[in-house]
Amino acid sequence: MSEAAVQSAASFDVAALRAQFPALQQEVNGQPLVYLDNAATTHKPQRVIDAISDFYRLDNSNVHRGAHTLSDRATLAFEAARQKVAALLNAAETAEIIWTRGTTEAINLVASSYGRRVLRAGDRVLVSAMEHHSNIVPWQLVAQECGAEVVAIPVSAEGELDMAAFRSLLDERVKIVAVGHVSNALGSVNPIQEIIDLGHQAGAKVLIDGAQGVPHFSVDVQALGCDFYAFSGHKMYGPTGMGALYGRRELLEQMPPYHGGGEMIKTVSFAGTTFNDLPFKFEAGTPNIAGAIGLGAAVDFLQSLDRKAAAVHEAALLAYTHEKAANFSGLTRVGRAKQIAGAFSFLLEGSHPADLGMLLDQQGIAVRTGDHCAQPIMKQFGIPGTARASFALYNTFDDVDRLFAGLEKAKTFLM
Ligand code: ALA
Repeated sequence: MSEAAVQSAASFDVAALRAQFPALQQEVNGQPLVYLDNAATTHKPQRVIDAISDFYRLDNSNVHRGAHTLSDRATLAFEAARQKVAALLNAAETAEIIWTRGTTEAINLVASSYGRRVLRAGDRVLVSAMEHHSNIVPWQLVAQECGAEVVAIPVSAEGELDMAAFRSLLDERVKIVAVGHVSNALGSVNPIQEIIDLGHQAGAKVLIDGAQGVPHFSVDVQALGCDFYAFSGHKMYGPTGMGALYGRRELLEQMPPYHGGGEMIKTVSFAGTTFNDLPFKFEAGTPNIAGAIGLGAAVDFLQSLDRKAAAVHEAALLAYTHEKAANFSGLTRVGRAKQIAGAFSFLLEGSHPADLGMLLDQQGIAVRTGDHCAQPIMKQFGIPGTARASFALYNTFDDVDRLFAGLEKAKTFLM
């Protein structure tokens, strides 16, 4: 183990942390589970599970509507969760946090509402070549309608954003820049502060897809100065089907509603409808109340940790993984950016990633295989996909050892 790994192991009590996660205590295929698919979704600590089940057991009611105690309790918990998310991101005000089903819906909201409002024929939306499909396709849908164009910022063979190319693409046609904080497929950490500053200097608005950012870093949207920041609850220890969009009030005020229905209106008549204030203007229909409360509990969980120590621990796990990978014959890392978080993508000579995933699963080791919803970058690299081990703060150095032992064993089946 490297010195950094030893130090991190000493300063971060992973065993105590793991004890909070029931799903990590099980065996899979006769072996203690090694869960390395955290970029797809993380497991949930007991406090998140309890918050959701307590809501349904005790407070279940609709929000902002009822004239009774349970509805008041549900509304208070639901809005308290929004405050927690606002604090997590350091938003200037709680009304700048819009509940969504996750990152995908958050980006679709901005593309449909803001994009459709501002994009004209000849305009451009810049995304990176390593984006997740959810930060490509929503822009394509709107761009097609408006006669605008979605242009990819090139990415190097190491998986780094080509900042010189980005600078040269920034001209008056660019109205929106949308990039991931961290690539889900490669783990590359993008220089988002520089991207935001350069985007703004060119007169564009900047959206950050934070699906893989929030789980690993403390995010301060005011310090960053981004216009939009989107993330999912289920990748940061919260429930699925729940996420949030941060948007600057000034922009959210200008944007038309995304969905129509109850809650998002002030008055409705057949002569015309007026819309509700922020954030409710974007929240038509009964929301995922239990999901919001569960996400609030996930924020409490994150805030209860020493996040700096967690980041040091995760970085040490990745460094240890890279060290082992360097000495593992036949293994090729995919994505070698200088700054990497969360994900370790790789290929093993003579094997298809899908077969490798199956052989690891038989040993109780969960990884993801495939294109990771990032087909353009896989195509650029000339590969159909990769195997990907992705880390959360509850992973251990023993998990990494088990992964490489599992790969060694898999090799014997593949030869
Ligand atoms: N976007 C998720 C992943 O990278 C599902 O696995």
